[in-house]
This record gives sequence, structure tokens and C-alpha cells, in this order.
Amino acid sequence: MCGIFAYSGKQKNAGELVIRGLKKLEYRGYDSWGVAYQAPEKLGLLRKVGKIGEFNLEYNKMPESTLAIGHSRWATHGGVTEANAHPHTNAEGTIAIVHNGIIENYQELKKELEEKGYIFKSQTDTETIVHLLDLYCKTDDFVSAAKKTLARLHGRYAVLAVKTGEHKIIAARRGSPLIIGVGENEHFIASDIPAFLEYTQQIMYLDDNEMVVINDKPHFYNLETQEEVEKRVVTIDLKPESAEKGNFAHFMIKEIMEQKDTIYRAINQNDTDILKLAEEIKKAYGTFFVGCGTAGKVCLAASYVFAKVAKRHVNVVVGSEFPSHQDFLKEKSLVVAVSQSGETADTLEAIEVAKKKGAKVLSIVNVVGSTMDRMSDYTIHIKAGPEKAVASTKATTSQLAILTLLAYACNNDLQEGKRLLIETAGQINDMLNPRYEEHIQKLADKIKNVESMYVIGKSVNYPIALEAAIKLQEVSYIHAEGFAGGELKHGPIALISEGTPCIVLVANDETRQDILNNAQEVKARGGYIIGISPQQESVFDYWIKVPDAGMASSLVNIIPIQLLAYHLAVLRQNNPDMPRNLAKSVTVK
Ligand code: M6R
Repeated sequence: MCGIFAYSGKQKNAGELVIRGLKKLEYRGYDSWGVAYQAPEKLGLLRKVGKIGEFNLEYNKMPESTLAIGHSRWATHGGVTEANAHPHTNAEGTIAIVHNGIIENYQELKKELEEKGYIFKSQTDTETIVHLLDLYCKTDDFVSAAKKTLARLHGRYAVLAVKTGEHKIIAARRGSPLIIGVGENEHFIASDIPAFLEYTQQIMYLDDNEMVVINDKPHFYNLETQEEVEKRVVTIDLKPESAEKGNFAHFMIKEIMEQKDTIYRAINQNDTDILKLAEEIKKAYGTFFVGCGTAGKVCLAASYVFAKVAKRHVNVVVGSEFPSHQDFLKEKSLVVAVSQSGETADTLEAIEVAKKKGAKVLSIVNVVGSTMDRMSDYTIHIKAGPEKAVASTKATTSQLAILTLLAYACNNDLQEGKRLLIETAGQINDMLNPRYEEHIQKLADKIKNVESMYVIGKSVNYPIALEAAIKLQEVSYIHAEGFAGGELKHGPIALISEGTPCIVLVANDETRQDILNNAQEVKARGGYIIGISPQQESVFDYWIKVPDAGMASSLVNIIPIQLLAYHLAVLRQNNPDMPRNLAKSVTVK
């Protein structure tokens, strides 16, 4: 949530370079954007409301500069206005800062600063940081003033500061990501690696409660002990093109299509590691699957696979609700955190709660080196490659695949799990062909103007119905809800009227007849039944065929939904990569 990008080095137009980097981070926030660059007298500042992707550098040349910081915003405190856009500056315009996160004690700090005569120009929590820094700079040098400022902040943050006359960037983090890219006589700072991948694959991690001062060479400090810390430079294995759209119109469709390959990559894990982690699950006194949004639905779907395959009960809790369950955690409990980004604040908080209780944490993440990856006792990387569209697609199926594999490993049947998933990966590869997509596009065209739609499923397909609703809501903006088929008659069936689309997720197992009966109940009230099923059934008005994938039916059933959501978004002229009000990585609570 919010993208940060900064540059210090030999290139002559740091401002332009930062704008180009921010364009790659736009998926993290696209309400407004801004950049501050070092100009001879005071800092140059450019701030705009709207998407940075629409800013044309050809027609808007930036002045020469070798140091700049930038930000693309997802609004938390204060509306979407230029005054609330980052960077924020002090009254003289000699200090600028960008910030991602929430300063929880900003009201108290603001009151204190106002009493000292500081005048606020925005409604943001962020502006308190720059005035506080200004205050401390009156008595201290820039670095000491920054340390004093950071010591006063409560909450999660990633923050960068620059000051006229100081050719340096100060950056610090607590709970929100920042990574340093190391080039030849130049440095990049970004919320996410893809922003600087075209320049360098050498990185340094800034950990929580650390600050880095970058001039010629980065100097890292632990903010608690104030001591300097040594850091290693790590080479990452990511190709610049993996974070580009290539020939696809949108990242979302590119990432859906990448599922031809990502499931194979996900399950290509070291058997010994998977078996060891399965043992951890088996010996745990209480296993808690935790995730948010789509990742939370993946957790719920996996709980059915664990029940059926491994005959094990697991608790499923969404990240934001986890603190209320902490009394059930023991030292021998295991928290399995599922996250694409590895940076979701609510999931991170759940991990923090678990660690305080002495429980072990296994993270299933996509982003290598993310906060979750680094703070967990064990990690499984899903290896899906950068996922940039806000709507999660390839990460979802990879997470489902990994959890399915773990369930089989818990049942001492790892090879059987692998066989099933390899077969499913092959089936998904076959599904993702142009004719299949056209069939779904046709359906999208038929239903593109509806006001509401519903999705029902049973057993493992019930969480997939919930996930389907998220997918449809977030990119098509059509009101969509998911239900367990059996729940309809307890209330929601009142919502069905003539022509209301209802997607029915069918698996070829003991649940088939029940869900088809539920579909009949909807049809009897005028509903338009869209069946996602291995077989054609008489109740269907529109049939989308999926392979019979047995215990992996959740993986195949979500694919047509992803395609449908994408095509509905395109037909309704929404940008599927950057849906309104959302951001890719939710780093605020
Ligand atoms: O990065 P994470 O997997 O932790 O993100 C969790 C949710 O914010 C995310 O899945 C969100 O619900 C997606 N936009 C859904 O497509």
C-alpha cells in the first residue's frame, strides 16, 4: 500500500528515473503521486492527483538532479488531493519526506507541533513527521534529528527523508517494506524489487527498526541500540521481463495465463523440506491457517483438504481477527501464514502475536525476502514470479497447490499429492486456450450489465465461491456474493429474481447432487444458472467445462472465474490491474 521509490547516484536525471520507477510500483497505490528532487537552492517538488502511469515524461521534462525520492499514494488519512499527496515538506521547503503506513500517535504529535507554531498544509498523518524532523534539525544534525524523529513515531512505517544541502537519503522502516538496490556508484530504494530490476539485481534488506543513510555508501543503524549494523549484498534471481506486461493488454490476463506453468513451479519443492514441515503440522498443538482476502479464502479451502486428506482439524482465522484468538495459542502451536506479498499488515500482526506466545510460524509466500519470509521460522516460497495485478490469480492457485501438497504429506502420501497436482497443472495448461477464453468472454458479454450475481459451492468449493465473489467484485464492480449452497434457503435465496446470474461450482464427488439441488432451487425462482462443472447438467443455462480434478477441484474451478472477472472488467471499461479504492499490498491495518 503506497509505493516508494528513490534514487541517489551518478545518473543525471534522478527525478525522471524516480518517476519511471514509481510507474512500476503503481499497483501499490494510485490515488496521487509525487517526487522531490535535489535542486541547488531548495528541493524541487512535483505532486499530482491521479495515476502516475498517465504522466508523460516526453512532454514534462524534469530538471537535472542526482538525488530524488518519490511516492504513489493509497489514501488513508485525508482525501485524494494534491495537498495530501507526498512528498510532504517543511514550511521552507528544505526538507521532504515520503511515507507508507500509519502514524498512530499523529494527533498527539500534531497538537504538540501546532503549539510550537507549525502550520499544517494537509490532513495527513505523514505531515507530522516532516515538521518533527524540522524541529529536531534546529538543534541536531540531519541524521541525529532523523533518529530522534523516528523514536517518537508509533505505528507501522516506511519513511524516506531528504534535506537541502545534504546529498543523502535517510530511510527507515518498521512493518512496511523497503529494499535497497545496489548499482555501481548508485543506490535505489523501493517498496518492491521490480521497481529497480532493470538497473540491478543486487540488493540489501533493511529490516524492521533499522535506518539507512545513503550517500556514497549505505550505512545501516539499529534504531533500538543506535549501533551501526553490517549488511550483506544479495543477488536475486528475478528477470526484469518477469515484471513486465509483454504482449498482454493487462497484467491480470498475463498472470492468469502464467498458470500454465506456475503450478508446476509451486510444487517443485524439496521433498525432505515438505515432509519436515508436515511433521511440524502433525506435532503442533493447534494449527492456525491465517491470511487476508484471497489468501484467507485459500486457507479455508485448504482446511477442507486437510480434513478430507489428512484427517486433521486446522483453525482458519482471517488476519485482522487473529488477535482475538490468541488465548488459544500455546508454545507448541503452529501458525501457517499465507500471503502473496508477505507484507500484509494484518497477517504480519498475527505473526507478531504468535511469536509473542512462543508459537512457531510457517509462511507460504511469493515474495522472497519479504517481511513474512524473514520473520518466520519456516518458509515455503510459491515461486509464482511477480504478481502485479491487484487481483490475485496465479498466487492463489500456487498457494492452493502448496497447501494441498502439505495435506498429502501429512497423510504420508506426498507422492500421491504430487501426482494429483502434476496432473491438475497439465489440465490447467489445457484449459487456458483461446477457445476456452472466448467461451467465457461470450458469457461476460451476456451478463455484463447485471446488478448482482451470486456464486455457490459446497465443501472445498464453498471457499472458492467466496473467492469468486472477491474476484468479481474487485475488478468488475458488479455486486457479487458467495455462499455455501446449503445456506441459500436460510436467507439469501430472497435475493434471487428473474434472470439473476448464479454461478454454481460443481465437483464430481459426493457433494455434486446437493449443489445441483441448490442450483434447482435458484432456477425455480428465475435464476440464470452458470455451471462450472466437469459435466453438462440439465439445470445449467450456461456451462463452463472444467476437468474432473478430484481433490484439486478448487484449483480448476477458480480459473474460469478469474477469466470471467477479467473480461467483465474489460467490457465494463474498468482497469482490471488497478481497481478503484484498492492497492496490491495492504500494509496498513
Ligand atoms: O499479499 P497477500 O496475499 O497477503 O494479500 C492479501 C489480500 O490483500 C489479497 O489477497 C487481496 O484480497 C487480493 N486483492 C484479492 O485478489
